[in-house]
Amino acid sequence: MHLELSEHHQQIQQLARDFAQTELASVASKNDETHTFAKEQIKKLGELGFMGIAIDEAYGGAGQDPLSYVLVIEEISKVCAATGVALSVNNSLVAEVLKNFGTEEQKQKFLVPVAQGEKLGAYCLTEPMSGSDAATMATTAVRQGDHYIINGAKNWITNGSYSDVMIVFAMTDSSKGAKGINAFVLDTKTPGVEIGKAENKTGIRSSSTCTISFTDVKIPVTQRLGDELSGFIIAMKTLDNGRIGIAAQAVGIAQAALDEAIKYGFERKQFGKPILENQGLKWMISDMSTRVEAARLLTYQAAFKKTQGGRFTRYSAAAKLFASETATFVTHHALQIHGGYGYTRDYPVERYIRDARVTEIYEGTSEIQRLVIAAQTLKEFEF
Ligand code: CAA
Repeated sequence: MHLELSEHHQQIQQLARDFAQTELASVASKNDETHTFAKEQIKKLGELGFMGIAIDEAYGGAGQDPLSYVLVIEEISKVCAATGVALSVNNSLVAEVLKNFGTEEQKQKFLVPVAQGEKLGAYCLTEPMSGSDAATMATTAVRQGDHYIINGAKNWITNGSYSDVMIVFAMTDSSKGAKGINAFVLDTKTPGVEIGKAENKTGIRSSSTCTISFTDVKIPVTQRLGDELSGFIIAMKTLDNGRIGIAAQAVGIAQAALDEAIKYGFERKQFGKPILENQGLKWMISDMSTRVEAARLLTYQAAFKKTQGGRFTRYSAAAKLFASETATFVTHHALQIHGGYGYTRDYPVERYIRDARVTEIYEGTSEIQRLVIAAQTLKEFEF
């Protein structure tokens, strides 16, 4: 068992770290304030191969492994978590689903430009009345000959306003519940697709999150992913990937907050000494740093399990659960160490605490992760 990163992985990590410093560090805070999507930087991430990190080179990707994907998302999110989620969704919820379930024709048409970063992807599962209970979706896909007609609305769609390609889930046979759903790949410009209101979010404010409506959207059967009515399993398997990305994002935010807390704690003097010389604050740093390391290891483990093949649901859910709660814990303490200054926009910790919070919500709340982990743990238990 090797817990050290290989030289190759260290190089990828360094490449992402350098990119984040040179391209994102100077704009992250301003973009957050002005809700500006880092469009230019995302294009450059595509040039580096980071929009399709674990996609084969033959399909426009960088041909790297899941650990490389984790390392890149962590480094980008350390500096700009909003760009981190755009990257994560494009890689794990869009490129991966096309890689795993797309036909050759779908791969050539949709995967190649998404993996190259020429087109941006969005994943349309959630609806106003269907969040944690994803199988109760009201969006319908009615088969008419060799086409489907899609009607309905999706919300909380990451990358939505800037997306070119969408993965859309819709109910074809509601009598079958979760087993009545289809998955599709769509061009955002398809007639009847309308990009709606952008959300005014608490955190990751420079990421795009919006509603999307579908009115009599006619798409050929050739744009269905996988077998007829296999959409829910596709959605769940894809979220297994996505949750590793969100875990990596959370680790990045937590590490950034820990670094800032240490820096500030050494600089800030009270009672004639740096505040970090107080035992109470040392204990805080100790808990923060231990949790960050544990979250990172769980995230690497999930990537490792994915590389091995087979089902990794429990590992990605556990990594996401622990890393997101760690990000909330660490950013909270980092702000406390900053005192009043941390509560202003003059220091980045207030952004980190806002950004961390959503990692416990999207791609399945912490409560859903606990349900998933429990179900898998009980299933695997041997009497
Ligand atoms: N892999 C393979 N199969 C899976 C699976 C997985 N990970 N998860 C479920 N399945 C299968 C089950 O085995 C079951 O099949 P059988 O009936 O043949 O056994 C079938 O799918 C139905 O599963 P469940 O009975 O467990 O389904 P459920 O309706 O009870 O829901 C749930 C399960 C875990 C709660 C699921 O609805 C869920 O994950 N909800 C959260 C949704 C979510 O994460 N949304 C995030 C939106 S995307 C987003 O946020 C992206 C973004 O923009 C950042």
